[in-house]
Amino acid sequence: GSTANGLNGIGYGLDQRNGSGCQEGTGPGPDELEGPGPTENDPIHLKRRVGLVSGVALIVGTMIGSGIFVSPSGLLERTGSIGMSFVIWMACGLLSLLGALSYAELGTMNTSSGAEYAYFMDAFGPSPAFLFSWASTLVLKPSQMAIICLSFGKYAVEAFVTECEPPEIVVKMVALLAMIVILYVNCYSVNLATSVQNVFTAAKLVAVLIVILGGVYKIFDGNTQHLKQPFANTQYSIGNIATAFYTGLWAYDGWNNLNYVTEEIKNPSKNLPRSIIIGIPLVTICYALINVSYLTVMSPMEMMTSEAVAVVFGNRLLGVMAWLMPLSVTISTFGSANGTLFAAGRLCFAASREGHLLDILSYVHVRRYTPGPGLIFHSIIAGAMVLYGTIDSLIDFFSFTAWIFYGGAMLALIVMRYTKPNYPRPYKVPLVIPCIVLLISIYLIIGPIIDKPTIEYLYAALFILGGMIFYIPFVHYNYRVPCMDGVTVFLQLLLEVAPTTNMFD
Ligand code: ARG
Repeated sequence: GSTANGLNGIGYGLDQRNGSGCQEGTGPGPDELEGPGPTENDPIHLKRRVGLVSGVALIVGTMIGSGIFVSPSGLLERTGSIGMSFVIWMACGLLSLLGALSYAELGTMNTSSGAEYAYFMDAFGPSPAFLFSWASTLVLKPSQMAIICLSFGKYAVEAFVTECEPPEIVVKMVALLAMIVILYVNCYSVNLATSVQNVFTAAKLVAVLIVILGGVYKIFDGNTQHLKQPFANTQYSIGNIATAFYTGLWAYDGWNNLNYVTEEIKNPSKNLPRSIIIGIPLVTICYALINVSYLTVMSPMEMMTSEAVAVVFGNRLLGVMAWLMPLSVTISTFGSANGTLFAAGRLCFAASREGHLLDILSYVHVRRYTPGPGLIFHSIIAGAMVLYGTIDSLIDFFSFTAWIFYGGAMLALIVMRYTKPNYPRPYKVPLVIPCIVLLISIYLIIGPIIDKPTIEYLYAALFILGGMIFYIPFVHYNYRVPCMDGVTVFLQLLLEVAPTTNMFD
């Protein structure tokens, strides 16, 4: 429709198509703004521009974010030993690889917008699809944003208080401040947001490289004392292992990101699985090396108690250049947070345009063409999460919810093999792979609840199911709250936003 064309035409999200660099901007693909997707004579027909190299860059760029700089401590704490935590780091990489290969089949089979939303729609019908978009706009994206901003706060503050614990409230305030700046950037202009993205992605690679090279140097220097006896003190409880997975999987999250751009991949049946097979193991290797690097300069005990491992690493290894480490990590996390908000705004836009959220959330600023209301809405939820949560609890909350849907996508794949046998499947994954991922995701969802039923899981589950309470009256029966129109108009005037149809028709 003209709505979306107009919007795309003026550039909201257009820069996504450059394929590389923009780590998170590649979120819900460009076509997400276009309802049923481009047609023959659609003037903005998507070009197939993502080749193998940009495909790999997209995967690597999204996956590497805050996690590798904050998760190693938590993972070590939950597993008790470096050997076991190493095993989990590798297993998380493998699980992401298998999950991504299954997503490759889903993505090439149904290239229409919205990734999971579309697969759930095909396999299970509208209400599960609604629950997905509900949970991702209200839980998944804001919690990602909150975790990344908190990591930013940690590193920004830690840079000044060298190796002792910074007061939590300061970290939270810095996290909120970052969030406000990012909100401003994203409301201000799309181009600004995407350029921030590219610059900041480079910083993250610098940080990763410093850690890896530093570690290699230290190993050759003979610093292997902490790597002996790797399995001493291992914890084998089911729940601990599952939550250790949560911590690790956070660092790998983003493995499914190519699915949002399948329509733009050149020769997708070959390049999609290839990018996955190269990209995810590449990240896995980086993470393994980084973990070893950390252990060359600190003991497992020090690693467990350190608030910001990479800062300690920098302080011990880089001498006068130690500031480089917190600086590059803060830049990296700032960039990830920016990308996450960018993607969240588009998701919110798409979901409310489907009639799944309040109309106002799909409106766009009349001159800047940024989806202000959606961005503000997300930032408010994410801000509350920053205030009331901690990185670890939010990671559990996020991973629990995310894996419900990743598992759901596996089930969708398996179901559609039987219910839609004639759909074209340019890339077909061996059926055993989604079955394995499905089983593991069931374990990941149930394990922690049985072992240690904490309140986060209850919240998350209630939140998802709470979606149904809204779905039935407001989406299914399309009930309109009487005074809502007034509120919408008021907010429209206040924020200077309008529905995209009015702007471009
Ligand atoms: N793996 C990233 C990190 O370590 C988080 C990615 C969040 N997910 C996403 N789809 N952007 O920070």
